[in-house]
Amino acid sequence: MSEIHSDALVFFGATGDLAYRKIFPALQAMVKRGNLDVPVIGVARAGWTIEQFRAHARESLERHGGVDEAAFAKFCGLLRFVNGDYDNPATFQALRRELGDAGRPAHYLAIPPVMFGQVVEKLASSGCAKGARVIVEKPFGTDLASARELNRILHTTFDEHSIFRIDHYLGKRPVHNMLFSRFTNALIESFLHRDHVSSVQITMAEDFGVPGRGAFYDHTGAIRDVIQNHLFQVLANIAMEPPVRTDSECIRDEKVKVLKAIEPIAAADLVRGQFRGYLDEPGVAKGSRTETFAAMRLHVNSWRWQSVPFFIRAGKSLSVTCTELMVRLRRPPKVFPGCTPARNYMRFRVSPEVEAAFGLTVMDTEDQMIGQQAEMLLSQRPAAGEMDAYERVLGDAMEGDATLFAREDYVEEAWRIVDPVLKQDTPVYAYDPKTWGPAEVDAVTPPGGWANPVPRS
Ligand code: BG6
Repeated sequence: MSEIHSDALVFFGATGDLAYRKIFPALQAMVKRGNLDVPVIGVARAGWTIEQFRAHARESLERHGGVDEAAFAKFCGLLRFVNGDYDNPATFQALRRELGDAGRPAHYLAIPPVMFGQVVEKLASSGCAKGARVIVEKPFGTDLASARELNRILHTTFDEHSIFRIDHYLGKRPVHNMLFSRFTNALIESFLHRDHVSSVQITMAEDFGVPGRGAFYDHTGAIRDVIQNHLFQVLANIAMEPPVRTDSECIRDEKVKVLKAIEPIAAADLVRGQFRGYLDEPGVAKGSRTETFAAMRLHVNSWRWQSVPFFIRAGKSLSVTCTELMVRLRRPPKVFPGCTPARNYMRFRVSPEVEAAFGLTVMDTEDQMIGQQAEMLLSQRPAAGEMDAYERVLGDAMEGDATLFAREDYVEEAWRIVDPVLKQDTPVYAYDPKTWGPAEVDAVTPPGGWANPVPRS
């Protein structure tokens, strides 16, 4: 179905941190690529003039990615600013005037979810929501009940077809490429099955803590921050069945089925950790028990995956920064007396490099038939000018393509899986920065151990 392109982009939270770090660079890139040629209206309470807003945009670009003078000049021509409080009807009347005859605006709520209610209600009462799309940032709620409430609020004004819930991981090319590679290669699909796979593990390691984000992070923790959203999406990409068609709903249907097949995480299948020094971070509550590390085991009870354990681990202040998925295969039977072959594996690295690799056993160089491990590696450097995740998802939302956005049933299923264990006060073990998390992670470890990625750059 071809969709009508949005004819204006409104972004709430225009003077905020996300806009500064991610949105301005994405918008300039869209202009440069010729994908943004409609009014871009920032809304915030800053008391700024349009000149101050443009200066702020330039400063953001100077810090994040650089100013492209030609694109920036065009971008400034599109940029508008509406100043005002989100609880003041006058702000939305001013926005309505600024929208002019735009009939399909996209409203991007880059604001804390507690403000969604009042903004959505005022968009409706001012007439700004007519024919509009709404784009919402993560975190989409803090548990199942709050996600349902956010969905209820959005649905008072927008139908599901017009709601775009951002998970920027879906905008990363290598994450999307997992699906493409799976369903364009008979080789890969032939072994992604319980008959051949012994375990799947996903690691998202970051070697930095929570600089400048202590207060936000302390209310969030690793499970809510990256596992329930980003890493469940990676899991869904590796576990889902081929979609019957490639439209957004068919793809999202298959992802939801994966989550439906997962039981809520049991406390025994979760290890939480906190890096030493976290409690001294500005904004972190005294004695906080928020996890900066989590490792979990879960099962996808589908025909394809039953009895194959899936492991997910994510943490701040770990040894490296790298996101990687590893599928280990069952060990082949022994044929050569001196050689117990290692398990073959497939590895997908999402960042910092983009890699797909296969672990194989090959004959040792001395021909002793004892075998040695080798890796067949396919590595891609990002192409110059490749779309960043935010550029991709904002462009898709304005085009009305929902494939790379989380659907209502998906976010609720994702919360259902983690909700009970989040409400239990499971232990939080301390770990030293620049390690792979607490020693207690042994309780939740894949057969053959965690594969600790070694980034090349
Ligand atoms: C964000 C999390 O959603 O994703 C951060 O809030 C995390 O804590 C970030 O660092 C990782 O994304 P990227 O694209 O920077 O790897």
